[in-house]
Amino acid sequence: MAILPILVAPDPRLKQVAAPVEQVDDTVRRLMDDMLETMYAAPGIGLAAPQVGVLRRIIVLDVASEGETPQPYRMVNPELVWVSDEDASYEEGCLSLPDHYADVVRPAAIRVRYLDEHGVERELAAEGVLATCIQHEIDHLDGILFVDHLSALKRNMILRKLLKAKKAKPGKGKAGTPEPAHVL
Ligand code: NI
Repeated sequence: MAILPILVAPDPRLKQVAAPVEQVDDTVRRLMDDMLETMYAAPGIGLAAPQVGVLRRIIVLDVASEGETPQPYRMVNPELVWVSDEDASYEEGCLSLPDHYADVVRPAAIRVRYLDEHGVERELAAEGVLATCIQHEIDHLDGILFVDHLSALKRNMILRKLLKAKKAKPGKGKAGTPEPAHVL
């Protein structure tokens, strides 16, 4: 397994639509293992392949709290097949937008259809943080970042700060800010 470099916004690769995976093979499985390791090390609770520069429809997530048994999900070609009318708001962060957080409103409950690491089709009903995380990661596959759900004013303010930080310190790590609840 390996820890992969995570792309930080603004980056044109984070704004592209990822292509479906045709076959769940060893390369895809290895990528998902590496993505999970990268996500746990960050630390975060979700990661999408475009964030590590791979434009394929692959996401991994684990919303188990620290101290709980890990519950990793590996999803290939995930697709929302149902969303609730009811909405929920969570404070979201993103490994590609380090140190920035905002409340994002999304459907409170969902059903997602995907292929697991063996290429078997599965469906999962989710609510709460898991539902938020799955929607956030699927957004990444369509080139959508959580800031795209905010007003243009807020979005541009965050992106400008990130660009500035990038120019100041190429490949910078994170500042000494407290870890947020939901870094997706
Ligand atoms: Ni994210």
